[in-house]
Amino acid sequence: MQNEKIGLFDSGLGGLSILKALVEILPNEDYLFYEDSIHNPYGDKREEELFKITSSIVDYLLSKNCKIIVIACNTATTSCMKKLRKKYPDTIFVGTVPAIKVACDYDYKDVVVLSTPYTSKSKRVNELIDCFKKEEQNITIVSGSNLANLIEINDKEKIRSLLLDKLSKYQNSMDSIVLGCTHYSLIKEEFQQLFPNVALLDGCLGVSLEVKRQLENKKLLNLSQKKGTITIENSKSKDLITRSYEFLER
Ligand code: DGL
Repeated sequence: MQNEKIGLFDSGLGGLSILKALVEILPNEDYLFYEDSIHNPYGDKREEELFKITSSIVDYLLSKNCKIIVIACNTATTSCMKKLRKKYPDTIFVGTVPAIKVACDYDYKDVVVLSTPYTSKSKRVNELIDCFKKEEQNITIVSGSNLANLIEINDKEKIRSLLLDKLSKYQNSMDSIVLGCTHYSLIKEEFQQLFPNVALLDGCLGVSLEVKRQLENKKLLNLSQKKGTITIENSKSKDLITRSYEFLER
């Protein structure tokens, strides 16, 4: 089991941000990343549909003997993680949630949480705010509408105008943006160009450390001294797989 793969999935390329962080801290593991671009965006779907989609991906990753499954998607985590844990009680899941705890721990004063329509309305986000926000902190939840899809199709012009449309009004007050969708971490440069003095926070490192912790606890770390392999599959097109490997090499 130690030598089996770490399985990850997302509604497309977004999970690459987590895969990249994982490879940095666990370079000798083998990875299988399933990009479900055909169903992108997840963020405007209902919970029942997302549960059906994510269950079939979990079945697939388990059929490939993955020793742990990383839900590299905030939307799938906030909508389905609890139900998936119930349905697959013997499987180790690590999920991704907006890095609200990080923003609160670092005492940012004016935080914008940008996430998909589903995540921004989810109970989980409000629970995280209730749990970690200090009195003097101000947290605003903003829906990124179809931003994940624009990133998936790489429409740079529309991405910039959507970011301006959604975030300009907070420009003079916000000191940090929580990138509450894994796709958003792929366009950090665009955020930085438009909002240069604002901290960008995401959960990539946190998720990776949690995967390491889980594997250590369960004695499932791959002890090989050789660099591991990365396999990427995409439910929509081969071109997206090529783009994904290019991103990992940057
Ligand atoms: N990358 C995903 C997330 O973290 C989902 C984007 C989408 O398909 O809406 O939420």
